[in-house]
Amino acid sequence: MVGEAVRGRFPVLASKVYVNSCSQGALSDTVRAAYEESLEGWDANGAEWGFWVERSEAARTAFAGLLSARPDDVAIQTSVSAAVSAFVSALRFDGERNRIVITDFEFPAIGQIAHAQELRGAEVVQVEATPEAVAAVVDERTALVCATFVSYRTGAVHEVEAIYAIAREHGALMLVDGYQGIGALPLDVARAGDVVVGGTVKYLLASAGLAFMALRPGLVEELVPTQTGWFADEDIFEMQIERYRPHRSARRFDAGTPPVPNIYAGVAGVGLILEAGVPEIQRHVAGLVERLLAGLEELGASVAAPPRGPLVCVRSTDAPALVAALAAEDVVASERDSNLRVSLHLYNTEGDIDAVLAALARRPELLA
Ligand SMILES: Cc1ncc(COP(=O)(O)O)c(C=O)c1O
Repeated sequence: MVGEAVRGRFPVLASKVYVNSCSQGALSDTVRAAYEESLEGWDANGAEWGFWVERSEAARTAFAGLLSARPDDVAIQTSVSAAVSAFVSALRFDGERNRIVITDFEFPAIGQIAHAQELRGAEVVQVEATPEAVAAVVDERTALVCATFVSYRTGAVHEVEAIYAIAREHGALMLVDGYQGIGALPLDVARAGDVVVGGTVKYLLASAGLAFMALRPGLVEELVPTQTGWFADEDIFEMQIERYRPHRSARRFDAGTPPVPNIYAGVAGVGLILEAGVPEIQRHVAGLVERLLAGLEELGASVAAPPRGPLVCVRSTDAPALVAALAAEDVVASERDSNLRVSLHLYNTEGDIDAVLAALARRPELLA
């Protein structure tokens, strides 16, 4: 179910035009109830850490279902930053293969973590987010290629599968940041990269403090992270302090006490997405984007990149002022890089698009 049929589950939509899922998905009754359930469990059970393990497994199973991955190949973390830091801690950059290739549209988390590896011998090369530009710099010296699925700055959907083919050809690993697309656009994880990361704040409709990392089957055995925690041990319940004994599965990339309340919310959010179905959400959102683009053209507005996903970035003469002008009309949007970001999801409707367009039409001087 998408559009009008699900709007009732998102109370904020009664008073706002919410086109800000690229920042944070709207709060649903289901996710609110999940948080309440976590608090009730706290009262009822106290700190039952065996139960935290169970919750962590529930999150792993939910993400695995969403990504068509095996739970054993999915790690649970509290942010993409933490997941990627754990991942790169398992790589070595002190030999011939020390290059990390990043694209111009990485989120700061990825770019900054890549540069942090310079302290461990890595050389970071930044290129345009196209297969051609990546092909020009990837060779036997490349350890890792990082690419982002959907740009948080332009809304462009990048050709991650083609970039992955280039990385593979040269024996490099590939990391895909799927945060800005997963939940609204299908991503074939197996074809996208060796490692795919994302989190629950945006199109997965939950809160901060929960992220996942899906690894290609078989990869985990090759990687031993040095950034670790006790939930990454082969047997957490043994509580041993004699040795480092990473779990045989992707759990070796987990960390410490899992973010239990966020897991309740995350599992509920992913549940809403699976209930609606990602292909159905994609179809619904594509229709809305088409309507938005037609209206923008009539207004003489331009977009930063041809949108093939849920995020449309509208060029503005003063993006913060435009966001404020829209907020004054109860339209919730955001901005980056002189662009207004309008992002659409399962709960948006043609009415939302028309409201955004009407608000923009009242501020032509803020459109570039
Ligand atoms: C593409 C992308 N990656 C990563 C993040 C967030 O990373 P973290 O979970 O480390 O805060 C965001 C959030 O805005 C994002 O848009």
